[in-house]
Amino acid sequence: MEHKRNAILDLGNGEPPLEFPILAGTMGPEVVDIRTLYKRGRVFTYDPGFMSTASSSSSITFIDGDKGILLYRGYPIEQLAKQCDFMEVCYLLMNGELPNIAQKASFDKTIKDHTMVHEQLARFYTGFRRDAHPMAVMVGVVGALSAFYHDAMDISDAAHRELSAVRLVAKLPTITAMAYKYNIGQPFMYPRNNLNYAENFLHMMFATPAEEYRSNPVLARALDRILILHADHEQNASTSTVRLAGSTGANPFACISAGIACLWGPAHGGANEACLNMLEEIGDESRIGEYIARAKDPDDPFRLMGFGHRVYRNFDPRATLMRETCHEVLNELGLRDDRLFKLALKLEKIALEDEYFISKKLYPNVDFYSGIVQRALGIPVSMFTAIFTMARTVGWVAQWSEMIADPEYKIGRPRQLYTGAATRDVIPIASRL
Ligand code: CMC
Repeated sequence: MEHKRNAILDLGNGEPPLEFPILAGTMGPEVVDIRTLYKRGRVFTYDPGFMSTASSSSSITFIDGDKGILLYRGYPIEQLAKQCDFMEVCYLLMNGELPNIAQKASFDKTIKDHTMVHEQLARFYTGFRRDAHPMAVMVGVVGALSAFYHDAMDISDAAHRELSAVRLVAKLPTITAMAYKYNIGQPFMYPRNNLNYAENFLHMMFATPAEEYRSNPVLARALDRILILHADHEQNASTSTVRLAGSTGANPFACISAGIACLWGPAHGGANEACLNMLEEIGDESRIGEYIARAKDPDDPFRLMGFGHRVYRNFDPRATLMRETCHEVLNELGLRDDRLFKLALKLEKIALEDEYFISKKLYPNVDFYSGIVQRALGIPVSMFTAIFTMARTVGWVAQWSEMIADPEYKIGRPRQLYTGAATRDVIPIASRL
């Protein structure tokens, strides 16, 4: 990090102004390094929602929200989505560089060597109700992996961290598909190592011991693209959760489980499910106006799911790519006249032309389209966020590992602006009013 110049802060308390270094990364806004502020000025910064706070330095993902740019390790998401598969992207996020042919083959094999889960883990599922939400199952089962891989785990050892990362990336499709199979009462399907990552997942979801499943290459590629587009996204809520949990030295499988819990929320990864449910609720083009009006009403908490983003203020580059895939998949399956798809296109058009959405810079985000694609692939709505989990796991483990290896790594411990009662004495219970 380059020290550019100093920022001067006058606290208005009669003391001389304080100087803080302004640091620059490779790209993006500079940061004011206020780490010594409390020690020198006895004040905290106040930034709920982290609107102006860089919680860490990172060399993994870069986003320029105004320009709609997303880079993994410097590579534009458009190039990665069109020229690479998910395994190459995983290798890139975990190792910093794209693999060559030999490295890719070796990485594919390593992942395939870890796709099965311990047989005892399968029994864990039976503790859940059949109708449990798949994300509840994911939080529990991924957290349970910590019980299988705890004793031999030394997070300060890079090789141990890498093995945990490989295990997580390899096992997530198996665990996710098992959550679905358990829900519908079908036998779990073992992974098939002759298939690629996306094909194997579709096999574990849709094959049964009685019947083979042959995946359509267009659909497998669409799933692969969903995985690439969701693989990492800088310091978003779930990634920050994983980092915060991991900063205490906690077991990485437990930290990823914390990330899954965070991702479940409808303001984050749960948006694809919420979006499809919203489309079902709207039901018919004639009711779009009513829902747009609700979204604009300041007294109505309703939001148009799949619209808006904290960082992207002009467009979400992932949404552009997902929109393309959406059209490809629906063409392939002859679903262009599908009721919900037509409704989604109409909603997209009306919202994009509406003054409220234009002025607030609210555009369809990746989840607006990824839900439609997943539905076309035959994935039930309740599984959408679990698939996002499967994709984001590599980002979480890459960020967790980067943090542990960072010499500046410290336990994450924010402070607060206390607004409760000032110090007071306890009155004996008999005398209390
Ligand atoms: N529909 C209607 N109004 C909205 C929407 C929406 N989807 N999103 C934001 N607004 C309004 C909001 O009411 C506020 O209005 P005002 O200034 O009058 O109070 C203004 O736009 C700014 O909203 P905000 O909540 O301050 O913005 P934020 O940056 O905190 O929230 C967001 C970002 C993604 C949580 C929000 O846009 C939202 O809830 N969208 C719907 C959920 C969604 O699609 N989430 C998926 C995000 S992409 C996947 C991922 O990365 O997780």
